[in-house]
Amino acid sequence: MHNHASPFLAAAALALAPTALAWGTVGHATVAYIATGLMKPETASYCQQVLGDTSGDFIGGIASWADSYRYEPGGGFSSAFHYIDALDNPPYTCDVDFDRDCTAEGCIVSAIMNYTNIQRAQHDAESLKFLVHFLGDIHQPLHDENYGAGGNNITVLVDGVAWKLHAAWDTAFMTKITGGTNLAAAKTFSARLLTSIRSGVYASAAKRWFRATLADSQAAAMGWANDANDLVCSHVLPQGPAAIEGAELNGTYYRDAVPVLELAMAKAGWRLAAWLDLIATGSTPLGTAAGACKHARHV
Ligand SMILES: *[C@@H]1O[C@H](CO)[C@@H](O)[C@H](O)[C@H]1NC(C)=O
Ligand SMILES: *[C@@H]1O[C@H](CO)[C@@H](O)[C@H](O)[C@H]1NC(C)=O
Ligand SMILES: *[C@@H]1O[C@H](CO)[C@@H](O)[C@H](O)[C@H]1NC(C)=O
Ligand SMILES: [Zn+2]
Repeated sequence: MHNHASPFLAAAALALAPTALAWGTVGHATVAYIATGLMKPETASYCQQVLGDTSGDFIGGIASWADSYRYEPGGGFSSAFHYIDALDNPPYTCDVDFDRDCTAEGCIVSAIMNYTNIQRAQHDAESLKFLVHFLGDIHQPLHDENYGAGGNNITVLVDGVAWKLHAAWDTAFMTKITGGTNLAAAKTFSARLLTSIRSGVYASAAKRWFRATLADSQAAAMGWANDANDLVCSHVLPQGPAAIEGAELNGTYYRDAVPVLELAMAKAGWRLAAWLDLIATGSTPLGTAAGACKHARHV
C-alpha cells in the first residue's frame, strides 16, 4: 500500500532533527497566512472563535497539525486523507479521476468534502484544522500522483544532499525559496506573494482562481487536484523519472520549479480564503460560483 511519507518524517529522517519542521511549517503556514490576508474580516473572526485563538497566527499556527496527528494513536485513519493517488501515466498523460483514484479508505478530495460538511454542521476546531491543511496539500503536485507513491521512490540531489523527489518539492525547494524553516520565514514569503496577488503579477489571473460552490465540494476539490496534477507532467517529471533519478536538481529544474511552487502557494491561499468565506459567511468576494455568470445572463 502506498504510504506517502509525511514531509515532516522525510525531513526528520534526513536531518535527524524532528524539531526542524520544514515544509510542515513553511509551506502550510505560507498558505495559511496568504488566506488570512485575503479572507473577509467576519471569516477571520469565525475562525478565531472556532479555534479559540485571537492572535494573527490563528490558522498559520495550526496549518501543520494534521501531519503530526496522523501518526498519533487514533489518528492513523486520516493518513490517506493527505493525497489522491492519480493512476495516470506521467509525463505522457496526467489526470485525476475521482472514481478511479479515490479509494475506499478515502482521499484528499473525499476528506475535503467530509470536513467541509462537518465544519458547516458543527463549527468545530478539528475539521477546520483538517481543511486548512488539506487545501494546502492538494496544491502540492506530488499529493495528486500515484507514480512511485507520490515520488517517494525517486531519489534526487538538491545542492549535493539526497532527497526523495516528494520531499525535494515539499521541503528542500521550499527552504531554498524562503531561506528558512519557521513561521517567520513563512510570514515574509506570504507577504511577498500577497503583494503579487493584490497588485503584482497575479492580480488579474487571481480573479479566475476560484469557481466553486459548497453545494458541489467534490467538483471544487477535483478542480484543485487536477490543476496541481497537471504540473506532474509539465514540471515534476517532464522527461520521465529516469531523467532525474540520482540527478542534481539545483540548476534548470529548480529554476523552473520556483515559479510553479510560488503560484501553487498563491492559489492555495486564495482558494482557502474563499472556501472559508463560503463556510463562515455564505459568500466570497474572491470568485464566482461555477456557472454563475452564465445564469446571470438569463435572469
Ligand atoms: C469524516 O470525518 C470523520 C471525523 O474525523 C471520520 O471519522 C470519518 O471517517 C470521515 N469520513 C470520510 C468518508 O472521510
Ligand atoms: C517506482 O514506482 C514505479 C511505479 O509507481 C515503478 O514503475 C518504478 O520501477 C519504481 N522505481 C523504483 C526505483 O523502485
Ligand atoms: C548545485 O549543487 C552542487 C553540489 O552538488 C554545487 O557544487 C553547485 O554549486 C550547486 N549549483 C547551484 C547553481 O547552486
Ligand atoms: Zn499533509
